[in-house]
Amino acid sequence: MTAPLLTEIDHVAIAVRDLEAAIAYYGDTFGATVAHRERIDSDGVEEALLKVADSYIQLLTPTSETSPVARYLEKNGEGIHHVGYRVDDCAAALRSVAEHGGRMIDQAPRPGSRGTTVAFVHPKGAFGTLIELVQE
Ligand code: CO
Repeated sequence: MTAPLLTEIDHVAIAVRDLEAAIAYYGDTFGATVAHRERIDSDGVEEALLKVADSYIQLLTPTSETSPVARYLEKNGEGIHHVGYRVDDCAAALRSVAEHGGRMIDQAPRPGSRGTTVAFVHPKGAFGTLIELVQE
């Protein structure tokens, strides 16, 4: 193993049913403010990023009934959906996943929110956590 591929926690993503209520909760209770909001139609989600030091809480809500986040909420209810790790090179990190027998959801890096490049790693083979690799 050479240099670590995961350089920082980018975000912890939390699936919620009511985005406005979740934003209000974090704002009222913890003084957290929205740094970025985006609707990503290709993923069927709307997100609000709340800054915590150099990382974010990513509040995620589905924008359609067929969205993976809608299915997640139906199955598991609200809660932690995935962890986003910063990487310098998304393709290299994804290659390492494949080389170590992991299962990828994305076979190749693709555009994420905020102009990032991302890839998701399947929770099966990753100790039950959906992992997002985030390259800025
Ligand atoms: Co994410």
